[in-house]
Amino acid sequence: MKNKKILITGGAGFIGSHLVERLLSRNNEVVVIDNFNDFYDPAIKRDNIASLEKLDGADRLQVVEGDIRSLTDVEEVFSRGPFDAVVHLAAMAGVRPSLENPALYVDVNLRGTQNLLDAACAQASGLPLFVFASSSSVYGAREPGSDSFKESDRTDRPVSPYAATKMSGEMICHSQHVATGLDIVCLRFFTVFGPRQRPDLAIHKFCRLIDEDKPIDMYGDGKSQRDYTYIGDIVDGITGVLELEKPGFEILNLGRNEPVLLCEMIECIEKSLGKKATINRKPMQKGDVPNTFANIDKARRLIGYEPGTSFDKGVAEFVEWYIASKKSKKASSKIETAPVK
Ligand SMILES: NC(=O)c1ccc[n+]([C@@H]2O[C@H](COP(=O)([O-])OP(=O)(O)OC[C@H]3O[C@@H](n4cnc5c(N)ncnc54)[C@H](O)[C@@H]3O)[C@@H](O)[C@H]2O)c1
Repeated sequence: MKNKKILITGGAGFIGSHLVERLLSRNNEVVVIDNFNDFYDPAIKRDNIASLEKLDGADRLQVVEGDIRSLTDVEEVFSRGPFDAVVHLAAMAGVRPSLENPALYVDVNLRGTQNLLDAACAQASGLPLFVFASSSSVYGAREPGSDSFKESDRTDRPVSPYAATKMSGEMICHSQHVATGLDIVCLRFFTVFGPRQRPDLAIHKFCRLIDEDKPIDMYGDGKSQRDYTYIGDIVDGITGVLELEKPGFEILNLGRNEPVLLCEMIECIEKSLGKKATINRKPMQKGDVPNTFANIDKARRLIGYEPGTSFDKGVAEFVEWYIASKKSKKASSKIETAPVK
């Protein structure tokens, strides 16, 4: 999909900013809509955009500060089309916070998604390809040791409001596809990590706390597992989908097919940081699932998806980025506070 115009919702966030970077390097025109909300520090999102604006090809990037729940904002962003594809990443993410405010998750993740689907279908010059960011959480609670999760497995037992909105989002996409013929691919991402990872996610949070000599909370016995997937592989998967001609309606897992135990994940961060963690054991949390494990045969077949970054290498890259960004923050705060001579 070179030289095409692509709308990315949530493009200031973790996955979105990596996708924008890749698409600009491939000569695409990119329009971003993001509301820079405070789910985590909005300054991080503004920094992501500021870095993108320095890249070669940044003249092909437009950023609209707007909310996908607002029809006016969605109309404004679609007036910058027509788009060949819409990659819909904007959402309230995070399992545990969704238990605190389920209505907000429904509002953003469902109403916002419906607004975008309607606007995509109203595009006069022809329908774009619509890519919806779904999640491994739709598979519900499955014990470690179970088979890898296939797209055809049952997904009607979500255990958090977040998971429920992602499953419902897929269903809204399906009904819209049947009603209008809009081509839609739902991508079930499995815990994405790497440079710029969201600060609320475990690898980032643990790395920060261990680095600051603070204890980390470990929920359960350390034997829960996650199929962590490196951001570069996820972006390969999304761009692979953007190459599909008229896919109809598809659901694809994007994972690594190699789950890692929580205790192994902590050891790996310790090794990369060269520091030992102080562990606070806590019971499993509501909404958390004990296991995620992607079967990626379908993504391999349909888009030639092949995750290439091992967990250890990905963590080492994350830690390298973490240390570098900490140093650059320190340097810029020194410049700001330097006395005037
Ligand atoms: N990171 C993961 O491990 C993971 C796993 C599974 C699914 N996902 C999904 O992938 C997508 C991107 O996740 P991420 O980790 O990059 O999260 P993120 O929070 O870093 O990015 C989401 C972006 O959407 C924006 N946004 C939120 N509500 C909005 C609204 N109402 N209007 C406009 N913009 C809004 C946020 O400001 C943010 O910049 C999300 O849909 C998430 O549910 C992520």
